[in-house]
Amino acid sequence: MPLSPLAEVIVRGLTSAPKSLPPRVLYDERGSRLFEQITTLPEYYPTAAERGLLVASAPTIAERTGMRTLVKLGAGVLDKSRILIDAGLARGTLTSYVPVDISAEVLMKSARELQKQYPLLSISPVEADSMGEWAIGGLASPVVISFLGGTIGNLFPRERVDFFRRMCLAAGAGNYLVVGTDLVKDVDRIVDAYFDSQGITEAFLLNVVEVMNDECGLGLSAEDFDYVPLWDARESRMDLRLRARRELSLNLPGGSSTCRIAEEEEIRIEVSSKFTREQVCAELRAGGATVVEQFDDGDFALTLAVVDS
Ligand code: AVJ
Repeated sequence: MPLSPLAEVIVRGLTSAPKSLPPRVLYDERGSRLFEQITTLPEYYPTAAERGLLVASAPTIAERTGMRTLVKLGAGVLDKSRILIDAGLARGTLTSYVPVDISAEVLMKSARELQKQYPLLSISPVEADSMGEWAIGGLASPVVISFLGGTIGNLFPRERVDFFRRMCLAAGAGNYLVVGTDLVKDVDRIVDAYFDSQGITEAFLLNVVEVMNDECGLGLSAEDFDYVPLWDARESRMDLRLRARRELSLNLPGGSSTCRIAEEEEIRIEVSSKFTREQVCAELRAGGATVVEQFDDGDFALTLAVVDS
């Protein structure tokens, strides 16, 4: 039986040195539910912060851009889309909404729900891994491409610039990007956001063990690992890992081979970078866009930039 694309990703991650898996392994059905729960935790400030910034800035964004097309990378969280859609409709310029998501199911569900609420809006879902090599074209200008939630922080510095370049290419010169980024702040507050008292984030990370079992039949137990949220001060990012409690040896699927995980060996699952405002501007500039306006509440920033010609 051929491996699923996700199984291939997992096998590659487990056989690389050091071991690491891409964040998308977090988002199976159960993982997506756990993440939704995270966004409501008192310790996890980014979601509420960004929502507040969107409410405050959406009218300005709609006015400055005159947006006709709104693209949203990652189609999951609908309430944030609605804030921007409402502002674009109120201005009378928005006609088309393009959600991009790796999950056809998430796309269909969100498109259906939004279409019910906005019958006159043209909704054109694109099934693509927005963290991968996506490309979209032929969008009606002015275009706003949004990438919210602070998910840009999952990428490493060079990847972020490539990502911004990709956004610029899809939007086209003179069009706009809106990017949400979590800001550098008191370390304890950051760590608490990834180590909540109810253990939801821990369950979210340990769910990766179930995903590995489902995709690769590894027969692992969540008890084989500890959740380790590290603050990497030098790189200014959270570094979320699973650490093996004992030595594990795995039979990888695809007849490939076995894999040994040493006691205390760590598998990196996700980094979540924290930014300064200036850094966001500099990285956008390196990717080909100039910041028009930055909205922030001290915890989180929403940056509007125009694509350079
Ligand atoms: C969805 C990538 C923005 O980095 O804060 C939350 C994911 N991981 N808690 C983040 C996450 C653990 C989240 N992003």
